[in-house]
Amino acid sequence: MNFGIISEEIINALKTIVGEKFILTDEENKLHYGHDETEDLIFKPAVVVRPSDANEVSEVMKLCSEKNIPVTPRGAGTGLSGGALPVFGGLLLSMERFNKIIFIDEENFQVTVEPGVITELLQNAVKEKGLFYPPDPASKGSCFIGGNIAENSGGPKAVKYGVVKDYVLNLEMVLPNGEIIWTGANVLKNATGYNLTQLIVGSEGTLGVVTKIVLRLIPHPTNDVLLLAQFSSAEKACEAVNAIFRAGASPSGLEFMERDAIEWAAKHIGETNLPMNENIEAHLLIEVDGNDMDVLYRDAEKISEVLKQFDCSEILFADTAQQKSDLWKLRRSVAEAVKMNSVYKEEDTVVPRAKLPQLLRGVKTISKKFGFKSVCYGHAGDGNLHVNIIKATLTDDEWNNKITDGIREIFKLVIELGGTLSGEHGIGLVQKQYMEIAFSKTQLQLMKDIKKVFDPNGIMNPGKIF
Ligand code: LAC
Ligand code: ZN
Repeated sequence: MNFGIISEEIINALKTIVGEKFILTDEENKLHYGHDETEDLIFKPAVVVRPSDANEVSEVMKLCSEKNIPVTPRGAGTGLSGGALPVFGGLLLSMERFNKIIFIDEENFQVTVEPGVITELLQNAVKEKGLFYPPDPASKGSCFIGGNIAENSGGPKAVKYGVVKDYVLNLEMVLPNGEIIWTGANVLKNATGYNLTQLIVGSEGTLGVVTKIVLRLIPHPTNDVLLLAQFSSAEKACEAVNAIFRAGASPSGLEFMERDAIEWAAKHIGETNLPMNENIEAHLLIEVDGNDMDVLYRDAEKISEVLKQFDCSEILFADTAQQKSDLWKLRRSVAEAVKMNSVYKEEDTVVPRAKLPQLLRGVKTISKKFGFKSVCYGHAGDGNLHVNIIKATLTDDEWNNKITDGIREIFKLVIELGGTLSGEHGIGLVQKQYMEIAFSKTQLQLMKDIKKVFDPNGIMNPGKIF
Protein backbone atom coordinates (compact mmCIF):
# COMPACT_ATOMS: atom_id res chain seq x y z
CA MET A 1 0.00 0.00 0.00
CA ASN A 2 1.20 3.50 -0.83
CA PHE A 3 0.83 5.67 2.21
CA GLY A 4 2.03 9.23 2.79
CA ILE A 5 5.14 9.93 4.86
CA ILE A 6 4.83 11.69 8.22
CA SER A 7 6.81 14.87 7.56
CA GLU A 8 7.96 17.54 10.00
CA GLU A 9 5.07 19.64 8.72
CA ILE A 10 2.53 16.93 9.66
CA ILE A 11 4.07 16.52 13.11
CA ASN A 12 3.72 20.27 13.64
CA ALA A 13 0.09 20.18 12.50
CA LEU A 14 -0.57 17.31 14.96
CA LYS A 15 1.04 19.33 17.76
CA THR A 16 -1.32 22.19 17.00
CA ILE A 17 -4.32 19.85 17.20
CA VAL A 18 -3.59 17.89 20.42
CA GLY A 19 -0.78 19.89 22.06
CA GLU A 20 2.96 19.21 21.89
CA LYS A 21 2.93 17.15 25.10
CA PHE A 22 0.67 14.57 23.54
CA ILE A 23 2.78 13.78 20.49
CA LEU A 24 5.45 11.12 21.04
CA THR A 25 8.21 10.32 18.57
CA ASP A 26 10.98 8.88 20.77
CA GLU A 27 12.20 5.31 20.34
CA GLU A 28 11.08 4.09 23.76
CA ASN A 29 7.48 5.12 23.15
CA LYS A 30 7.49 3.80 19.60
CA LEU A 31 8.48 0.42 21.03
CA HIS A 32 5.93 0.60 23.82
CA TYR A 33 3.05 1.51 21.50
CA GLY A 34 4.35 -0.84 18.82
CA HIS A 35 3.22 -4.00 20.58
CA ASP A 36 0.16 -5.46 22.28
CA GLU A 37 -0.15 -8.89 23.97
CA THR A 38 -0.08 -10.79 20.68
CA GLU A 39 2.79 -13.27 20.58
CA ASP A 40 6.10 -11.34 20.41
CA LEU A 41 5.13 -8.98 17.56
CA ILE A 42 6.33 -5.37 17.34
CA PHE A 43 5.59 -2.78 14.62
CA LYS A 44 6.81 0.70 15.45
CA PRO A 45 4.58 3.65 14.52
CA ALA A 46 6.16 6.84 13.13
CA VAL A 47 4.29 8.93 15.67
CA VAL A 48 2.06 8.35 18.70
CA VAL A 49 -0.82 10.80 19.13
CA ARG A 50 -2.83 11.01 22.36
CA PRO A 51 -5.97 13.07 21.78
CA SER A 52 -8.48 13.86 24.53
CA ASP A 53 -11.80 14.39 22.77
CA ALA A 54 -13.78 13.62 19.62
CA ASN A 55 -13.01 17.01 18.06
CA GLU A 56 -9.29 16.40 18.30
CA VAL A 57 -9.71 12.90 16.83
CA SER A 58 -11.77 14.47 14.06
CA GLU A 59 -9.02 16.98 13.23
CA VAL A 60 -6.40 14.22 13.29
CA MET A 61 -8.50 12.07 10.94
CA LYS A 62 -9.07 14.98 8.53
CA LEU A 63 -5.34 15.59 8.36
CA CYS A 64 -4.56 11.88 7.88
CA SER A 65 -7.23 11.55 5.17
CA GLU A 66 -5.77 14.47 3.30
CA LYS A 67 -2.20 13.20 3.60
CA ASN A 68 -3.06 9.50 3.23
CA ILE A 69 -1.50 8.51 6.57
CA PRO A 70 -2.44 5.12 8.08
CA VAL A 71 -4.09 5.43 11.52
CA THR A 72 -4.15 2.61 14.08
CA PRO A 73 -6.37 3.16 17.13
CA ARG A 74 -5.13 1.59 20.36
CA GLY A 75 -6.73 0.98 23.74
CA ALA A 76 -4.71 -0.58 26.56
CA GLY A 77 -2.77 -2.90 24.26
CA THR A 78 -4.05 -6.14 25.79
CA GLY A 79 -5.30 -7.56 22.48
CA LEU A 80 -4.42 -11.08 21.41
CA SER A 81 -4.90 -10.92 17.63
CA GLY A 82 -2.72 -7.91 16.82
CA GLY A 83 -5.62 -5.53 16.17
CA ALA A 84 -3.75 -2.55 17.64
CA LEU A 85 -0.43 -3.19 15.88
CA PRO A 86 0.51 -0.35 13.48
CA VAL A 87 1.65 -2.73 10.75
CA PHE A 88 2.25 0.08 8.22
CA GLY A 89 3.87 2.40 10.75
CA GLY A 90 2.12 5.75 10.41
CA LEU A 91 0.08 7.24 13.20
CA LEU A 92 -0.78 5.36 16.39
CA LEU A 93 -3.87 6.88 17.96
CA SER A 94 -3.75 6.12 21.68
CA MET A 95 -7.15 6.45 23.37
CA GLU A 96 -5.80 6.42 26.93
CA ARG A 97 -6.86 10.01 27.72
CA PHE A 98 -10.51 9.11 27.01
CA ASN A 99 -10.79 7.91 30.59
CA LYS A 100 -14.05 9.36 31.89
CA ILE A 101 -17.24 7.64 32.97
CA ILE A 102 -19.51 10.41 31.71
CA PHE A 103 -22.89 9.49 33.16
CA ILE A 104 -24.46 6.57 35.02
CA ASP A 105 -28.15 6.82 34.18
CA GLU A 106 -29.64 4.94 37.14
CA GLU A 107 -33.19 5.68 35.99
CA ASN A 108 -32.67 3.92 32.67
CA PHE A 109 -29.99 1.38 33.64
CA GLN A 110 -27.46 2.82 31.22
CA VAL A 111 -23.95 4.22 31.33
CA THR A 112 -22.18 6.57 28.94
CA VAL A 113 -18.46 6.05 29.01
CA GLU A 114 -15.31 7.02 27.12
CA PRO A 115 -13.34 4.21 25.43
CA GLY A 116 -10.20 4.57 27.56
CA VAL A 117 -11.86 3.53 30.83
CA ILE A 118 -10.52 0.27 32.31
CA THR A 119 -13.30 -2.32 32.15
CA GLU A 120 -13.06 -3.31 35.82
CA LEU A 121 -13.23 0.34 36.97
CA LEU A 122 -16.41 0.73 34.94
CA GLN A 123 -17.84 -2.45 36.49
CA ASN A 124 -16.98 -1.24 39.98
CA ALA A 125 -18.48 2.21 39.39
CA VAL A 126 -21.84 0.83 38.25
CA LYS A 127 -21.78 -1.85 40.98
CA GLU A 128 -21.78 0.93 43.57
CA LYS A 129 -25.23 1.80 42.22
CA GLY A 130 -26.34 -1.85 42.39
CA LEU A 131 -25.91 -2.22 38.64
CA PHE A 132 -24.06 -4.83 36.60
CA TYR A 133 -22.05 -4.66 33.39
CA PRO A 134 -21.21 -8.36 32.95
CA PRO A 135 -18.62 -8.77 30.12
CA ASP A 136 -15.38 -9.49 31.95
CA PRO A 137 -12.40 -10.44 29.77
CA ALA A 138 -9.51 -12.07 31.66
CA SER A 139 -7.63 -8.77 31.35
CA LYS A 140 -10.49 -6.75 32.88
CA GLY A 141 -8.10 -5.12 35.37
CA SER A 142 -6.09 -3.50 32.57
CA CYS A 143 -8.03 -3.62 29.27
CA PHE A 144 -10.08 -0.66 28.04
CA ILE A 145 -13.79 -0.77 27.31
CA GLY A 146 -13.00 0.69 23.86
CA GLY A 147 -10.78 -2.29 23.02
CA ASN A 148 -13.56 -4.58 24.23
CA ILE A 149 -15.93 -2.89 21.77
CA ALA A 150 -13.38 -3.21 18.97
CA GLU A 151 -12.97 -6.95 19.53
CA ASN A 152 -16.48 -7.78 20.79
CA SER A 153 -14.87 -9.33 23.86
CA GLY A 154 -16.41 -12.02 26.00
CA GLY A 155 -15.00 -13.53 29.18
CA PRO A 156 -16.32 -16.07 31.68
CA LYS A 157 -19.68 -14.39 32.33
CA ALA A 158 -20.65 -14.54 28.65
CA VAL A 159 -22.12 -18.01 29.13
CA LYS A 160 -25.04 -16.57 31.10
CA TYR A 161 -24.98 -12.86 30.29
CA GLY A 162 -23.71 -12.60 26.72
CA VAL A 163 -20.78 -10.69 25.26
CA VAL A 164 -20.03 -7.00 24.70
CA LYS A 165 -22.35 -6.68 21.70
CA ASP A 166 -25.31 -7.60 23.91
CA TYR A 167 -24.77 -4.44 25.99
CA VAL A 168 -23.87 -1.77 23.42
CA LEU A 169 -26.78 0.56 22.63
CA ASN A 170 -25.12 3.47 20.89
CA LEU A 171 -21.69 4.72 19.88
CA GLU A 172 -20.21 8.08 19.05
CA MET A 173 -17.57 7.61 16.40
CA VAL A 174 -15.26 9.62 14.20
CA LEU A 175 -15.28 8.46 10.59
CA PRO A 176 -12.01 8.24 8.66
CA ASN A 177 -12.90 11.53 6.91
CA GLY A 178 -13.22 13.26 10.30
CA GLU A 179 -17.01 13.45 10.51
CA ILE A 180 -18.49 12.69 13.93
CA ILE A 181 -21.67 10.55 14.08
CA TRP A 182 -23.80 8.57 16.54
CA THR A 183 -24.59 5.05 15.33
CA GLY A 184 -27.95 4.41 17.05
CA ALA A 185 -30.07 5.60 19.97
CA ASN A 186 -30.05 5.11 23.75
CA VAL A 187 -32.95 2.69 23.68
CA LEU A 188 -33.41 -0.98 24.54
CA LYS A 189 -35.16 -1.81 21.29
CA ASN A 190 -34.31 -0.40 17.91
CA ALA A 191 -35.70 -1.52 14.56
CA THR A 192 -34.76 1.62 12.72
CA GLY A 193 -32.66 1.06 9.64
CA TYR A 194 -29.40 -0.86 9.41
CA ASN A 195 -27.78 -1.61 12.75
CA LEU A 196 -24.65 0.52 12.48
CA THR A 197 -23.94 0.10 16.19
CA GLN A 198 -23.55 -3.65 15.87
CA LEU A 199 -21.50 -3.27 12.71
CA ILE A 200 -18.97 -1.20 14.60
CA VAL A 201 -18.82 -3.63 17.55
CA GLY A 202 -16.13 -6.15 16.64
CA SER A 203 -14.89 -4.16 13.62
CA GLU A 204 -11.43 -3.95 15.20
CA GLY A 205 -10.90 -0.23 14.59
CA THR A 206 -11.09 -0.64 10.82
CA LEU A 207 -14.15 1.54 10.20
CA GLY A 208 -13.60 4.55 12.46
CA VAL A 209 -12.67 5.65 15.96
CA VAL A 210 -15.19 5.15 18.78
CA THR A 211 -15.17 8.13 21.14
CA LYS A 212 -18.24 7.53 23.37
CA ILE A 213 -20.06 4.35 24.32
CA VAL A 214 -23.57 3.86 25.72
CA LEU A 215 -24.07 0.53 27.46
CA ARG A 216 -27.12 -1.09 28.95
CA LEU A 217 -26.85 -2.39 32.52
CA ILE A 218 -28.75 -4.95 34.58
CA PRO A 219 -29.35 -5.36 38.33
CA HIS A 220 -26.31 -6.86 40.09
CA PRO A 221 -26.86 -10.39 41.43
CA THR A 222 -26.18 -10.58 45.17
CA ASN A 223 -24.76 -14.08 45.57
CA ASP A 224 -22.75 -16.76 43.86
CA VAL A 225 -21.41 -20.26 44.41
CA LEU A 226 -18.14 -21.40 42.87
CA LEU A 227 -16.78 -24.91 42.51
CA LEU A 228 -13.77 -26.52 40.92
CA ALA A 229 -14.22 -30.00 39.49
CA GLN A 230 -11.30 -32.29 38.71
CA PHE A 231 -11.34 -34.92 35.97
CA SER A 232 -8.94 -37.68 35.05
CA SER A 233 -10.05 -37.34 31.42
CA ALA A 234 -10.06 -33.95 29.67
CA GLU A 235 -12.51 -35.24 27.09
CA LYS A 236 -14.92 -36.36 29.83
CA ALA A 237 -14.69 -32.88 31.35
CA CYS A 238 -15.74 -31.46 27.99
CA GLU A 239 -18.60 -33.96 27.75
CA ALA A 240 -19.85 -32.89 31.17
CA VAL A 241 -20.20 -29.29 29.96
CA ASN A 242 -23.18 -29.86 27.73
CA ALA A 243 -24.76 -32.27 30.18
CA ILE A 244 -24.85 -29.46 32.77
CA PHE A 245 -27.05 -27.37 30.49
CA ARG A 246 -29.14 -30.38 29.45
CA ALA A 247 -29.88 -30.91 33.15
CA GLY A 248 -31.45 -27.45 33.24
CA ALA A 249 -28.72 -25.48 35.01
CA SER A 250 -27.56 -22.09 33.69
CA PRO A 251 -24.15 -21.39 35.19
CA SER A 252 -22.74 -17.85 35.20
CA GLY A 253 -19.30 -19.29 34.47
CA LEU A 254 -18.21 -22.62 33.04
CA GLU A 255 -14.49 -22.64 32.36
CA PHE A 256 -12.28 -25.49 31.18
CA MET A 257 -8.58 -25.78 31.97
CA GLU A 258 -6.24 -28.55 30.96
CA ARG A 259 -3.79 -29.64 33.62
CA ASP A 260 -0.88 -27.67 32.15
CA ALA A 261 -2.98 -24.51 31.98
CA ILE A 262 -3.91 -24.56 35.65
CA GLU A 263 -0.48 -25.80 36.79
CA TRP A 264 1.39 -23.11 34.87
CA ALA A 265 -1.00 -20.46 36.19
CA ALA A 266 -0.55 -21.68 39.79
CA LYS A 267 3.21 -21.53 39.39
CA HIS A 268 3.01 -18.11 37.75
CA ILE A 269 1.10 -16.53 40.62
CA GLY A 270 2.69 -18.57 43.40
CA GLU A 271 -0.49 -20.46 44.34
CA THR A 272 0.52 -23.59 46.24
CA ASN A 273 -2.74 -24.66 47.85
CA LEU A 274 -4.32 -26.46 44.95
CA PRO A 275 -4.58 -30.19 45.64
CA MET A 276 -4.06 -32.16 42.45
CA ASN A 277 -3.57 -35.92 42.12
CA GLU A 278 -1.20 -37.26 39.49
CA ASN A 279 -4.03 -38.52 37.32
CA ILE A 280 -5.91 -35.23 36.98
CA GLU A 281 -6.05 -34.14 33.31
CA ALA A 282 -8.43 -31.21 33.43
CA HIS A 283 -10.62 -28.93 35.54
CA LEU A 284 -13.97 -27.25 35.17
CA LEU A 285 -14.46 -24.03 37.13
CA ILE A 286 -18.20 -23.59 37.57
CA GLU A 287 -20.10 -20.63 38.99
CA VAL A 288 -23.81 -20.08 39.55
CA ASP A 289 -25.11 -16.68 40.58
CA GLY A 290 -28.40 -15.10 41.63
CA ASN A 291 -30.11 -13.64 44.67
CA ASP A 292 -31.40 -16.66 46.58
CA MET A 293 -28.74 -18.84 48.23
CA ASP A 294 -31.08 -21.83 48.55
CA VAL A 295 -31.66 -21.83 44.82
CA LEU A 296 -27.94 -21.52 44.17
CA TYR A 297 -27.12 -24.45 46.46
CA ARG A 298 -29.77 -26.54 44.71
CA ASP A 299 -28.25 -25.61 41.33
CA ALA A 300 -24.77 -26.49 42.57
CA GLU A 301 -26.10 -29.82 43.85
CA LYS A 302 -27.73 -30.54 40.50
CA ILE A 303 -24.46 -29.73 38.71
CA SER A 304 -22.48 -31.96 41.10
CA GLU A 305 -24.80 -34.86 40.29
CA VAL A 306 -24.13 -34.36 36.58
CA LEU A 307 -20.37 -34.12 37.09
CA LYS A 308 -20.30 -37.48 38.88
CA GLN A 309 -21.66 -39.13 35.75
CA PHE A 310 -18.54 -38.02 33.88
CA ASP A 311 -15.90 -39.54 36.13
CA CYS A 312 -15.33 -36.34 38.04
CA SER A 313 -12.90 -37.36 40.78
CA GLU A 314 -13.14 -34.37 43.10
CA ILE A 315 -15.35 -31.32 43.57
CA LEU A 316 -13.86 -28.50 45.62
CA PHE A 317 -16.26 -25.79 46.81
CA ALA A 318 -14.88 -22.28 47.38
CA ASP A 319 -16.21 -21.47 50.85
CA THR A 320 -15.01 -17.92 51.34
CA ALA A 321 -14.84 -14.77 49.25
CA GLN A 322 -11.05 -15.10 49.40
CA GLN A 323 -11.13 -18.64 48.00
CA LYS A 324 -13.41 -17.52 45.20
CA SER A 325 -11.22 -14.63 44.29
CA ASP A 326 -8.11 -16.86 44.41
CA LEU A 327 -9.70 -19.36 42.04
CA TRP A 328 -10.75 -16.65 39.59
CA LYS A 329 -7.30 -15.11 39.81
CA LEU A 330 -5.84 -18.48 38.91
CA ARG A 331 -8.14 -18.78 35.91
CA ARG A 332 -7.44 -15.21 34.76
CA SER A 333 -3.70 -15.80 34.95
CA VAL A 334 -3.61 -18.69 32.50
CA ALA A 335 -3.02 -16.58 29.37
CA GLU A 336 -0.17 -14.70 30.98
CA ALA A 337 1.31 -17.90 32.43
CA VAL A 338 1.31 -19.54 28.99
CA LYS A 339 2.97 -16.46 27.51
CA MET A 340 5.68 -16.54 30.18
CA ASN A 341 6.28 -20.25 29.68
CA SER A 342 7.28 -20.25 26.01
CA VAL A 343 6.84 -18.55 22.67
CA TYR A 344 3.31 -19.52 21.64
CA LYS A 345 0.44 -18.89 19.27
CA GLU A 346 -3.12 -18.71 20.53
CA GLU A 347 -6.11 -19.76 18.46
CA ASP A 348 -9.49 -18.61 19.77
CA THR A 349 -11.62 -21.45 18.38
CA VAL A 350 -15.36 -21.67 18.93
CA VAL A 351 -17.81 -24.47 18.08
CA PRO A 352 -21.42 -25.26 18.99
CA ARG A 353 -21.16 -26.26 22.65
CA ALA A 354 -22.07 -29.93 22.23
CA LYS A 355 -19.16 -30.32 19.78
CA LEU A 356 -16.54 -29.32 22.36
CA PRO A 357 -15.33 -32.90 23.08
CA GLN A 358 -14.82 -33.50 19.35
CA LEU A 359 -12.90 -30.25 19.04
CA LEU A 360 -10.58 -31.13 21.92
CA ARG A 361 -9.99 -34.64 20.58
CA GLY A 362 -9.28 -33.24 17.09
CA VAL A 363 -6.85 -30.63 18.39
CA LYS A 364 -4.88 -33.32 20.23
CA THR A 365 -4.77 -35.55 17.14
CA ILE A 366 -3.57 -32.64 14.98
CA SER A 367 -0.98 -31.62 17.60
CA LYS A 368 0.42 -35.13 17.52
CA LYS A 369 0.49 -35.25 13.73
CA PHE A 370 2.39 -31.95 13.46
CA GLY A 371 4.59 -32.60 16.48
CA PHE A 372 3.63 -29.61 18.62
CA LYS A 373 2.41 -29.32 22.17
CA SER A 374 -0.98 -27.72 22.74
CA VAL A 375 -2.41 -26.36 25.95
CA CYS A 376 -6.16 -25.77 25.91
CA TYR A 377 -8.40 -23.76 28.19
CA GLY A 378 -11.31 -21.43 27.82
CA HIS A 379 -14.98 -20.72 28.06
CA ALA A 380 -16.32 -24.24 27.73
CA GLY A 381 -19.90 -23.15 28.37
CA ASP A 382 -19.68 -21.10 25.15
CA GLY A 383 -17.90 -23.82 23.17
CA ASN A 384 -15.00 -21.32 23.09
CA LEU A 385 -11.66 -23.10 23.43
CA HIS A 386 -8.39 -21.16 23.52
CA VAL A 387 -5.90 -23.47 21.84
CA ASN A 388 -2.35 -22.50 22.72
CA ILE A 389 0.37 -23.91 20.52
CA ILE A 390 3.66 -24.00 22.37
CA LYS A 391 7.01 -23.55 20.66
CA ALA A 392 8.98 -25.31 23.41
CA THR A 393 11.75 -27.25 21.63
CA LEU A 394 10.59 -26.71 18.03
CA THR A 395 13.22 -25.17 15.76
CA ASP A 396 12.65 -21.68 14.33
CA ASP A 397 12.13 -23.23 10.90
CA GLU A 398 9.48 -25.64 12.19
CA TRP A 399 7.84 -22.83 14.14
CA ASN A 400 7.80 -20.31 11.32
CA ASN A 401 7.05 -22.57 8.38
CA LYS A 402 5.35 -25.80 9.43
CA ILE A 403 3.05 -24.87 12.30
CA THR A 404 0.73 -22.85 10.05
CA ASP A 405 -0.33 -26.07 8.31
CA GLY A 406 -1.31 -27.52 11.68
CA ILE A 407 -3.26 -24.38 12.62
CA ARG A 408 -4.97 -24.54 9.24
CA GLU A 409 -6.10 -28.11 10.04
CA ILE A 410 -7.42 -27.01 13.40
CA PHE A 411 -9.47 -24.24 11.78
CA LYS A 412 -10.75 -26.63 9.09
CA LEU A 413 -11.91 -28.95 11.85
CA VAL A 414 -13.57 -26.03 13.64
CA ILE A 415 -15.51 -25.16 10.47
CA GLU A 416 -16.46 -28.84 9.90
CA LEU A 417 -17.88 -28.88 13.42
CA GLY A 418 -20.01 -25.83 12.60
CA GLY A 419 -17.83 -23.34 14.45
CA THR A 420 -15.67 -20.40 13.45
CA LEU A 421 -12.21 -18.87 13.79
CA SER A 422 -12.57 -16.53 16.75
CA GLY A 423 -15.02 -16.36 19.63
CA GLU A 424 -13.71 -13.24 21.35
CA HIS A 425 -10.14 -12.28 20.43
CA GLY A 426 -10.83 -11.09 16.90
CA ILE A 427 -9.03 -11.69 13.61
CA GLY A 428 -6.75 -8.66 13.66
CA LEU A 429 -3.41 -9.39 12.06
CA VAL A 430 -2.55 -12.94 13.05
CA GLN A 431 -5.68 -14.81 12.00
CA LYS A 432 -6.45 -13.04 8.74
CA GLN A 433 -4.57 -15.62 6.68
CA TYR A 434 -7.20 -18.17 7.76
CA MET A 435 -10.29 -16.13 6.87
CA GLU A 436 -10.79 -17.93 3.56
CA ILE A 437 -11.33 -21.17 5.50
CA ALA A 438 -14.42 -19.64 7.12
CA PHE A 439 -15.75 -17.39 4.36
CA SER A 440 -16.44 -17.61 0.63
CA LYS A 441 -15.10 -15.00 -1.81
CA THR A 442 -18.54 -13.42 -1.93
CA GLN A 443 -18.74 -13.11 1.86
CA LEU A 444 -15.26 -11.62 2.07
CA GLN A 445 -16.01 -9.20 -0.77
CA LEU A 446 -19.12 -7.96 1.07
CA MET A 447 -16.96 -7.20 4.11
CA LYS A 448 -14.33 -5.46 1.99
CA ASP A 449 -17.03 -3.38 0.28
CA ILE A 450 -18.43 -2.30 3.67
CA LYS A 451 -14.93 -1.24 4.69
CA LYS A 452 -14.67 0.85 1.49
CA VAL A 453 -17.90 2.71 2.24
CA PHE A 454 -16.52 3.87 5.58
CA ASP A 455 -12.89 4.19 4.58
CA PRO A 456 -12.49 4.69 0.80
CA ASN A 457 -8.76 5.43 1.07
CA GLY A 458 -8.00 2.47 3.35
CA ILE A 459 -6.21 4.50 6.05
CA MET A 460 -8.17 3.15 9.04
CA ASN A 461 -6.21 0.37 10.76
CA PRO A 462 -4.99 -1.09 7.46
CA GLY A 463 -3.76 -4.68 7.19
CA LYS A 464 -6.34 -6.12 9.56
CA ILE A 465 -9.12 -8.73 9.19
CA PHE A 466 -8.50 -9.29 5.44
C1 LAC B 1 -8.83 -15.80 28.62
C2 LAC B 1 -8.44 -14.81 27.59
C3 LAC B 1 -7.12 -15.11 26.99
O1 LAC B 1 -9.89 -16.38 28.50
O2 LAC B 1 -9.42 -14.68 26.63
O3 LAC B 1 -8.05 -16.00 29.57
ZN1 ZN C 1 -11.02 -15.96 26.91
